[in-house]
Amino acid sequence: MKKKVTKIGVLCSGGDSPGMNACIRAVVRTGIYYGLDVYKIMRGYTGMIEDDIQQMESRSVANIIQRGGTILKTARSKEFYEYEGRKKAYENLKKHGIDGLVVLGGDGSFRGAQTFSNEFDIPCIGLPGTIDKDIAGTDFTIGFDTAVNTAVDAIDKIRDTADAHDRLFIIEVMGRDAGYIALHSGIATGAENILIPEKKTDYDDLIESLTEKERRKKLVNLIVVAEGEQTGGVQLANLIKEKLPLMETRVCILGHIQRGGTPTCFDRVIASRMGYAAVECLIEGRHNVFVGIVNNKMNYTPLNEAVKKKQRISEEWMKIVKILAT
Ligand code: F6P
Repeated sequence: MKKKVTKIGVLCSGGDSPGMNACIRAVVRTGIYYGLDVYKIMRGYTGMIEDDIQQMESRSVANIIQRGGTILKTARSKEFYEYEGRKKAYENLKKHGIDGLVVLGGDGSFRGAQTFSNEFDIPCIGLPGTIDKDIAGTDFTIGFDTAVNTAVDAIDKIRDTADAHDRLFIIEVMGRDAGYIALHSGIATGAENILIPEKKTDYDDLIESLTEKERRKKLVNLIVVAEGEQTGGVQLANLIKEKLPLMETRVCILGHIQRGGTPTCFDRVIASRMGYAAVECLIEGRHNVFVGIVNNKMNYTPLNEAVKKKQRISEEWMKIVKILAT
């Protein structure tokens, strides 16, 4: 029989994402509602190793639902990769009597949680907090909707100036290994080309399509490229300038503005639902899973499966881009 959980810790790890605060709020308030003690662990696994851990109250999470970033701060801990670091972290949790953990982060953070829960008797629940949306087992991740709307807003503005000058704009969006932000923001802004890490770019084909557009005087072109695509924005612009020197080209790298800002309603709602579900998992003994939402229902994936799978980008999406961008 699984041990009853009475004191839980919550932490954020990896890159922050808008909606993390709404999620922390949900974990804290649901935990307290069910009679648990809830502890904040600052700066991700680093705070666990350094014993930066304090008990929270319901009002510790007042007035944060609308704020980007994370009140718990976040970090990527190298020490946690080592057994010694994880042991130190475990001893600190034990000192506070913490017997359950909620980890808010991306796949790297889940990997840490999975290793930790295999080695020590602390059940972990993962919650997908990443703007990249690259985790299988959930339709959405906390922060993606906000990030993609920030990108759409910026690209719409770029289109105005691109149109005024008849220019080609290359917009680089975030996503070191994932093209979801590029794909969604590119489709939503009518980009002519979307380049993502998951699909090998045919540069000859790209140049050919730009040449053809130049021939028929289609002068406004937007290319949305994910930062993790083979070239990225700057190198791509150089390549295009070399092949099509007459084409006026500019590059805009949106960067970290996509990670900050007020979370959208959608992100706040999924964050609240997931935070609530994480606490229920700990109470009900559904341990070492990550909580996602699939077809609008809560979905639970064992952490050891979650770290192996990536969300796949369907070929149909790429076809839609090609057909609509004529
Ligand atoms: O959190 C994911 C992400 O935003 C990626 O899209 C991006 O490549 C990376 O984090 C950037 O990380 P950092 O903020 O450490 O530069």
